[in-house]
Amino acid sequence: MPSNSILIVDDTPNNIRLLFDVLDSAGFNISVVKSGETALEKLHHIQPDLILLDVMMPGIDGFETCRRIKSNPNTKDIPIIFMTALSDIDNKVGGLQLGAVDYITKPIQVEEVLARVRVHLNLRNAQIQVEQEVIERKQAEAELKYTLASMQQMQIQLIQSEKMSALGNLVAGVAHEINNPLGFLNGSLNNSSEYVQDLLGHLHLYQEEYSNSSSTITEHAEDIELEYLCDDLPKIFDSMRGATKRIQTISNSLRNFSRVDTEYKITANWQEGIDSTLLILKYRLQANEQRPAIQLTTQYNTVPQVKCFPSQLNQVFMNILANAIDALEESNIGRSFGEIQANPNQIIIKSSLENNYIKISIADNAKGMTEEIKQKIFDNLFTTKAVGKGTGLGLAIAKQIVEEKHGGKLEVFSELGLGTEFIIWIPQEA
Ligand SMILES: Nc1ncnc2c1ncn2[C@@H]1O[C@H](COP(=O)(O)OP(=O)(O)O)[C@@H](O)[C@H]1O
Ligand SMILES: [Mg+2]
Repeated sequence: MPSNSILIVDDTPNNIRLLFDVLDSAGFNISVVKSGETALEKLHHIQPDLILLDVMMPGIDGFETCRRIKSNPNTKDIPIIFMTALSDIDNKVGGLQLGAVDYITKPIQVEEVLARVRVHLNLRNAQIQVEQEVIERKQAEAELKYTLASMQQMQIQLIQSEKMSALGNLVAGVAHEINNPLGFLNGSLNNSSEYVQDLLGHLHLYQEEYSNSSSTITEHAEDIELEYLCDDLPKIFDSMRGATKRIQTISNSLRNFSRVDTEYKITANWQEGIDSTLLILKYRLQANEQRPAIQLTTQYNTVPQVKCFPSQLNQVFMNILANAIDALEESNIGRSFGEIQANPNQIIIKSSLENNYIKISIADNAKGMTEEIKQKIFDNLFTTKAVGKGTGLGLAIAKQIVEEKHGGKLEVFSELGLGTEFIIWIPQEA
């Protein structure tokens, strides 16, 4: 440990000599000045660990010197020991009140000086150490808080992506399982439609060859409305084929939406991603008792191919579109069916290519949001929705996927009372 430095401020040569000899031989670094003014001047350049300050000096006295040292933030913590005459009680008390730590009585006792100087240096060192420890502890605490916060965030994302991948697997599994019976249905429909055509043809032939059928047969034909039945049956088959085709599309969309991403980006069709997302959300877009269907407009002016993690992008579309529907529903509260019909709920999806970025805009004409809410929507766990309805994770995750995973940007523009637009920028080649 480097030896402590001491500044002696005294105008009496005998005192100076005595103090210097004692402290120097005890191993301290000593500086000496002979007045309060020079002491203050010297303190601009050196930072002693302790000051021995004479009270009675020409020029500014020890008290004033002490007051000035204590009022300067750079020097206020340096311990000061006053040197004063034994009988001078007022001086001692006055010095201590000014912030001095101790006093030494004159005439100076060598042993006493050394003992007091050591005590106060030790105290000062201990104090510095405690201060340092407090600073370090505060720093550690802040670091811990930060680590905790980022761990919580990681955990949330982990749980979310875990859930998504579990859900993705489930959905993909269901979609796959639907495919087998669907294939069977399609095949059977084709066969039975042929059989029915044949049967109808055969029946027709019968009717031509045996036109004088018995009354039992003609009555039965009337009972079952044979003519209508023969006309309607092929149409029913067409509708059934239409229905299985729809199931097929849904199943494909589900598989597309929930496809498990690879480690690296692949070139994929993001428009299909939006379309499958819209298909999954279709039941929420349709008309219901409270409102007409949400009007959906898509205007794609870009190539659909982009290098990306497709199912992550689908999750972004899902989170933003679900929010738009939530917002529209909220904006319908208090409006009648007719009022909504006159000023219908809208979602407009547009895309364009700008500076090698694919720009996808998803806009709604719901109520928009206040500036204050807008500042927070990308924060983890921020939600304005009822407990159980909102998780406050959707946009935080969307932003992370767009910006960190894809090197893009997720922007929001919103005007209170008019609506909200989210813009997703994805670099075309990343
Ligand atoms: N299209 C929108 N219109 C108005 N407010 C929106 C819209 N999208 C998001 N918000 C606001 O952002 C908040 C955070 O959204 P999000 O992170 O998806 O969490 P959650 O949907 O679970 O609330 C919402 O609670 C809502 O207040
Ligand atoms: Mg949401």
